[in-house]
Amino acid sequence: MHVTYATATTANGFLATLDDSLAWLFAVTGDTPDLDALYAAANAVVMGSSTYEWLLRDRTLNDDPDGWASAFGDTPVVVFTTRALRVPDGADVRFLSGPVTDNVTALRRISGDGTVWVQGGGDLAGQFLDADLLDDITLHISPAFLSEGKPLFPRNLASDRLTLVDVRRTGQFIEATWQVRND
Ligand SMILES: NC(=O)c1ccc[n+]([C@@H]2O[C@H](COP(=O)([O-])OP(=O)(O)OC[C@H]3O[C@@H](n4cnc5c(N)ncnc54)[C@H](OP(=O)(O)O)[C@@H]3O)[C@@H](O)[C@H]2O)c1
Repeated sequence: MHVTYATATTANGFLATLDDSLAWLFAVTGDTPDLDALYAAANAVVMGSSTYEWLLRDRTLNDDPDGWASAFGDTPVVVFTTRALRVPDGADVRFLSGPVTDNVTALRRISGDGTVWVQGGGDLAGQFLDADLLDDITLHISPAFLSEGKPLFPRNLASDRLTLVDVRRTGQFIEATWQVRND
C-alpha cells in the first residue's frame, strides 16, 4: 500500500477556515493544479468526516445522481468517523473508525494494497504518519493566508525524514512533493 497525503493549503498551513470554508481557495484566479493524475492513481480516497460532510454539503453531491461518479468514478471513498453518516445514491463509501493502525488490514483490502490518497484533514494524515504509513506529501500552496483554521498537518516532521522530489508552479500555486522516510 502506498499512502499519499495531497491537499491544497494556505501559505501558512491551513486547510480550511474553522467553519470549513474553502472560499479562500476558490477565490484564486488563473490556472489551478490538475488533480486528474491523483484521481487516476488512487485505488482508494480517504478522508475524515468534516471533509466528507463538506463534500456532501458544499458540492451537493448528495443531490446530483451523477455528481459522485464524476468526482470519484468507481474509486472507493473511505471516511473515518465515529458517527453514522448518510451516503449519496450509488456512491461507494466505506466507514472506518479508530486508530489508523487498527484499520490497516481494511485499508489494504479496500485499496487492493494499492495507492491511497488521504485528502484530509490534517490530523487524519498525521495518524498515517503516526502509524509509519505515510509515504509522501503533496501540497498545492495557495496565495492566501488565514489567521486561524483547520490545520494542514499538526505533527512534528523534520527535514531528516523529508526529501523534496518535485516542485512546480501552476498559475499562482506552488506544487511541492516530499517523500517521507518512515522509521
Ligand atoms: N484545502 C483542501 O484542499 C482541503 C482538503 C481536504 C479537506 N479540506 C477541508 O479541511 C477541513 C478538515 O477538517 P478537520 O480538520 O475537521 O478534519 P477531518 O479529518 O475532515 O474531520 C475530522 C473528524 O473526522 C473524524 N475522525 C478523524 N479521525 C478519526 C478516526 N481515526 N476514527 C474515527 N473518526 C475519526 C472525527 O469526527 P467524528 O468521529 O465526529 O465523525 C474528527 O473530528 C474540512 O473543512 C475540509 O473540507 C480542505
